[in-house]
Formats: sequence, structure tokens, C-alpha cells
Amino acid sequence: MNVLGIESTAHTLGVGIVSEEEVLANQKSMFEPEEGGIHPRKAAEHHYQHALELLNNAEQEAKIDIEDLDGIAFAQGPGIPQCLDVGAVIARSLSKKHDIPLIGVNHCLAHISIGTRTTEAENPTTLYVSGGNSQIIDFRKGFYRIVGETQDIALGNALDKLARKLGYPHPGGPEIERLAEETDEIVELSYPVKGMDFSFSGLATEAQRKIGDVDDNVLANSFQEHAYAVTVEALERAMSQESSTEALLTGGVAMNSRLREMVEDMCEQRDAKAYFPPPEYCMDNGAMIAHQGMLELKAGKETSIEDSSKKPNWRPDEVEVEWI
Ligand code: ATP
Ligand code: FE2
Repeated sequence: MNVLGIESTAHTLGVGIVSEEEVLANQKSMFEPEEGGIHPRKAAEHHYQHALELLNNAEQEAKIDIEDLDGIAFAQGPGIPQCLDVGAVIARSLSKKHDIPLIGVNHCLAHISIGTRTTEAENPTTLYVSGGNSQIIDFRKGFYRIVGETQDIALGNALDKLARKLGYPHPGGPEIERLAEETDEIVELSYPVKGMDFSFSGLATEAQRKIGDVDDNVLANSFQEHAYAVTVEALERAMSQESSTEALLTGGVAMNSRLREMVEDMCEQRDAKAYFPPPEYCMDNGAMIAHQGMLELKAGKETSIEDSSKKPNWRPDEVEVEWI
């Protein structure tokens, strides 16, 4: 079975093609704002402009014609409404034109599924940290459950905000990481964890207020140490509660080496195993949508055109899981 997947939930437009055995293509183009955060209309325009080029490149990379595919998958939500529309429109058009089954998938669950496909993890507790989402997700009794999550903004968003105030372009996470590596010094900040939930808005504001009084690299290091410790403490509590022996890290922030180190240390201490997908599958990509689509199509699921509207606030615990 060969399935094409379209990712367009936020700043990345991705087109991937997968078979059961391998990822045949994984093309992407990222909208990079000139200043500020992601402007929904401008990001959507970027996606429309690059759609045909990415589709052609994916066909070439996979050496497969679109009409020969067995499924067209798209990220139906959650995400920025204007951006979600782009993926949905392309997917519906391709499905109709070539009479190929359509499947709308949940972006968060696609992150987890590509994580288990590209690592040895079997039934992990997932820490999903990106620019738009920060959740701890566990699979139990046929449903994915969100056992912990941010009470305000996502971890990646907080990193991006701090980096922007320090004068760096989007995405800010890698810049904060680079700055933090220059020093071992930290200043004390707040430590916002409540059970298995956390919050990053206050921490980001607190760090921003110290700009000028504290060196940029110390501030970056302090933010990372506090924010990641909070996140890993919540993950540990969730793993303990669920008696989980596997942690899976995914989402753009999962590329951070300090966060990976902390997760690895925590797992080692509790005889658990930490899994990290390759970077191209941590960040938003088309292959993960294609893979999730393939799992669902094989389980007999399909999305009719009538049911294919975007779902900007679609939570992963609302999805009926028929593929596991
Ligand atoms: P989602 O739609 O799942 O919320 P997204 O649109 O935020 O995803 P991703 O590619 O998953 O897209 O993640 C981007 C985020 O990851 C940005 O906030 C970026 O700053 C952060 N990020 C990328 N690399 C690093 C890094 N090395 N360290 C920390 N954060 C990083
Ligand atoms: Fe994502």
C-alpha cells in the first residue's frame, strides 16, 4: 500500500509518501515570517504557492504517480484554520480527481505513530512538545489520553517568544539552544509544574523581564534548565502513574539535545527506555501524515468529502482508535 500525506497545520507544508516498508518521499517547505510570529494568512499563502512544486517533487522522489496511490491523507487538525484549509483542499481534489480513498488524520497522533514507526518504542508515554502543542499522551483501553498538558502556551512557543525578544528570527528554539550551550551559569526562575500539567507563559515573561540585567546566554540557559526540568518532572510522574517503561519524545522541541539528555537521565534512573525519532520526523512532516493515514485506511477507516472539513481544535483523545 502506498499512501500520500499532506501536512499543513502551521508553518510547514509537507508532502510525504510511504509504503509499509519505507518512507518513499518526504518533501517540505517552511514558512519563515520576516518578523513576529506566524501570520495565518501569510502562512496559508506560502502553502498554496508551494503545493504543486512539493507534490511534483514527492512524486519524483518516490518514483510513483499520484494516480497509482492507494490513499490520500491530510492533517485535518488541530492547527491554524487558514493553513488547515490548504491541505484539505489539495487532498479532496486529488482524491476526487483520481478516485483514491481520502483520510483525514489527527496531527498529534501522527507525531506519535511516526515516532513508534521510526524507533523501537512499542507503547510509550509520549512527550509531544512543539510550537503549538505541549502534551503528555498515553494509550490505554483503546483511547489516547492526555495525562498532562500546558495550561497556557506551548513550550516551543515560549522558546520562540524569548528568542524573538532577544532579537532572533523564528524558529527560536535552536537559537536558545545555541546560546545556552555557551554557559553553565543559571539564574533562578519560577518552576511552574502542577502534577502532570505545566505552564510556560509566566516563565517566558519572567525571563523576558530580565533581558539586559542578565547575559543573553545565561538567560537562555536558565530558561532551558527550568522549562525542561518542569516538563521532564511531569513526564516522570505520568510514567510512574501509568507504570510505563517507555518514553517517546516528539514535536519540534524534541530535537533539543538538553531536553533529550534530561529525558534520558530520568528514564535511566527508573529503568525505563527513552526513544527519540530522527529529527526530520520530530518536526512537522508529510510522511507522518501519510503513515497515520495508512494505518487508518488499513483498519478500514475512510473520510467522506462531507466529513473532511478542518478541525482546528481536534484533541487526540477525541479520536476513535481503530488501528491498534
Ligand atoms: P505543531 O503543529 O505540532 O504544534 P509546530 O508547528 O510547532 O508543530 P514543529 O516543527 O513540530 O512545528 O516544531 C517547531 C517548534 O520546535 C518551534 O517552536 C521551534 O522553536 C522548536 N524547535 C526546533 N528546534 C529546536 C531545538 N533544537 N530546541 C528547542 N526547540 C526547537
Ligand atoms: Fe506538529
